[in-house]
Amino acid sequence: MSMAVADASQSSCSSMVADIRLYAPDYEPHVQSERMLLSRGTLPAESRDSRGAYVAAALIPNPIWRKPSESEQSMISSVDAPNDRRFVAVLRLFGTQQLESFRPSINSLWLMTREDERVFLHPLVVALLGRLKLYAHHTERLQYTGLTFDPPGLETVSIDASRKYVGLHVDYWDRKPLSERHSSPSRLCVNIGTESRHLLYMNVGLERMAVMLREANVEPAEEPAHLARQFMSSFPAYPVIRLLIEPGEAYIAPTEYIIHDASSAEASGRTQHLAFRSDFRIQEIVHR
Ligand SMILES: [Fe+2]
Repeated sequence: MSMAVADASQSSCSSMVADIRLYAPDYEPHVQSERMLLSRGTLPAESRDSRGAYVAAALIPNPIWRKPSESEQSMISSVDAPNDRRFVAVLRLFGTQQLESFRPSINSLWLMTREDERVFLHPLVVALLGRLKLYAHHTERLQYTGLTFDPPGLETVSIDASRKYVGLHVDYWDRKPLSERHSSPSRLCVNIGTESRHLLYMNVGLERMAVMLREANVEPAEEPAHLARQFMSSFPAYPVIRLLIEPGEAYIAPTEYIIHDASSAEASGRTQHLAFRSDFRIQEIVHR
């Protein structure tokens, strides 16, 4: 799928806020900025979806992408480890050769359900959790949420029970109310395929969305999915961050607290990832 990239100097001011920070300890800031693009806000999926593949009123990133400015980069990223759970992290867990060494055994994960404790004995999972320990710990039990393939060429990948694409959204695993969403578990998502994929997200938590809506004289909804939709409708120029996640890399994101999805738009073959939930906390890194 083709992707337009605009010159940052041609963009109007996106008025980004600094709220949910990106922590990517394996990459220098200048490398982080090369792995990131910002959308020209959001737009209704129906404007791009002639096949009716999306649910009604779904919103997707406006597919005109640009590099972040230096000031935007400084609002998005942090060089300091986050001390709470309101962060997005990108971690390099495996090199290409190590990931390939697990490839023959990956198919056995298909035989295991989300409740199957044997998942945690699988050599790939043992290795990835061992590697993760160098970056993060989790204060509650790790929940396995599955192995997923996505076809290439999708601007957003998440579907609902009717198998329609939902577009940009907040997750609702625990269905916690707005006031408790900041304490929902985060999602760890590991790219174990051979294709790069992208995390799409907005760097604004639900509570900050409510503040921004009030400042714009819009009464924020109590229900998180409704609030997220209000935010995107009220601030259609607010950029979506599109972050490269290469094979062997993982992201941790508070997906019940921020607007997000993933994309396989740039992949040439199917993408593959493994996902878990827990209350992840970053720990200071002594050495890796
Ligand atoms: Fe999600």
